[in-house]
Amino acid sequence: MRTPSISSWAFDAPVRSPFAMPTGLPGRLAGWLMLRLNDPRELLGLLDVREGDHVCEVGCGPGALIRALDQQTRAQTIRGLDPSADMLAMASRHNAAAVASGRVLLGLGTADRTGQADQSFDRVVSVNNVAMWPDLDAGLRELHRILRPGGVLLIAWHGGTAPSAIARRNSLPPRKLDRIHHALERLFSLVERRELTKITAFTAQRRS
Ligand SMILES: C[S@@+](CC[C@H](N)C(=O)[O-])C[C@H]1O[C@@H](n2cnc3c(N)ncnc32)[C@H](O)[C@@H]1O
Repeated sequence: MRTPSISSWAFDAPVRSPFAMPTGLPGRLAGWLMLRLNDPRELLGLLDVREGDHVCEVGCGPGALIRALDQQTRAQTIRGLDPSADMLAMASRHNAAAVASGRVLLGLGTADRTGQADQSFDRVVSVNNVAMWPDLDAGLRELHRILRPGGVLLIAWHGGTAPSAIARRNSLPPRKLDRIHHALERLFSLVERRELTKITAFTAQRRS
């Protein structure tokens, strides 16, 4: 099956990449690379999940961060959403025991249509995903809607102080990063931007 193209707020032309819309064999190969190359340790520290939290990852891909959340936090539930059925199948295999126990819940969804109830999560996270959204503001409004008051949103995209070759190739220009920052400030409080090792991370809190 041919990889579908996506139109995003961040790029001037439609993007056709198995990393943006992973489908079929190229998508599964991209998912395999994501599982091997992405290191969730710094992001987990920043997300600061507390015991009993409900956590949602939008654009979870093959489930590397879902697994880290399952194994290294005391979250009550961990929900992973992605528009790619191939990625959800990989994430399900990668987290088989936690899916079977019901602690990890996987399903179809996009940043602007999560299908989740209002104010149902304490932490919402999106990694290497925000530049693929068709509409930045619509995605942020939806993630704000599903966060509880006081809840934290973490948005991360390729970049950082020592970016990998992949991160360098995919990094966003400063004006696009500024656009994310300003869009977050319109909706959230305590917006901060940090350069981690291989990723640029924004954190923001839903007002209480
Ligand atoms: C580069 S992968 C990153 C996957 C995972 N977060 C990681 O870091 O390993 C991007 C993911 O975003 C998903 N995606 C594409 N468009 C999306 C959208 N509008 N909303 C949410 N996820 C989307 C893709 O299906 C893909 O799994």
